[in-house]
Amino acid sequence: MNKKLIKKFNRQAETYDRMREKHFQQKWREKLIGEARGHVLELAVGAGGNFPFYRIEEIDTITAVDFSPEMLRKAKEAAQHYHLPVKFIESDIEELAFEKQQFDTVVSTLSFCGYSNPVQILENVSTWCKPNGQVLLLEHGISSNLFAATLQRALNPLAVKTVGCHQNRHIMELINRSPLEIQKAEHHWLDVFHLIWATPKSGY
Ligand SMILES: C[S@@+](CC[C@H](N)C(=O)[O-])C[C@H]1O[C@@H](n2cnc3c(N)ncnc32)[C@H](O)[C@@H]1O
Repeated sequence: MNKKLIKKFNRQAETYDRMREKHFQQKWREKLIGEARGHVLELAVGAGGNFPFYRIEEIDTITAVDFSPEMLRKAKEAAQHYHLPVKFIESDIEELAFEKQQFDTVVSTLSFCGYSNPVQILENVSTWCKPNGQVLLLEHGISSNLFAATLQRALNPLAVKTVGCHQNRHIMELINRSPLEIQKAEHHWLDVFHLIWATPKSGY
């Protein structure tokens, strides 16, 4: 486990807790998370920023993982508040092992900016998801706009150092090279934000 990185996220737990119903990405979360169903795996759940948007009648269980105990503390309170059946796991996602084809839905919002090996996580997600399941992603990365991308590259070292967040990842390239098949995608804010509905490629 990366203790320094966990500390960085612990320090952000209050902020994420306060933002839960005030995110500027509210509409995107509603659209994406509203489609989660069955046994759900939520990667890097944070303070439960997606909890207001699950349609409880569609959910059997949510397995929520994060390595920050402070984020999890806030998420546990939120799960109670929204009456969600959540099982929490405090773990580094890069060290997790689940059985194959276990989840109907895998959710990740704003987490692929943080992992040291996002390619490996995408491969794992493809195996953890049932073949007829769905992978719902809201991620941010480097813009297709030259000016915005230059700014992001300039800010990247500071963002990594202070909040553990990489600004320069090519999210669509990562997903296109992964064992996930994109069913639908939306791109916002000069292609900085991506909403992705995907399924594991057949054979996974
Ligand atoms: C930017 S926050 C997003 C939180 C939440 N998904 C949301 O959309 O509000 C990133 C979260 O990822 C968690 N995280 C980052 N890397 C992780 C890892 N390798 N294993 C587990 N959790 C991780 C952090 O602790 C933090 O809660």
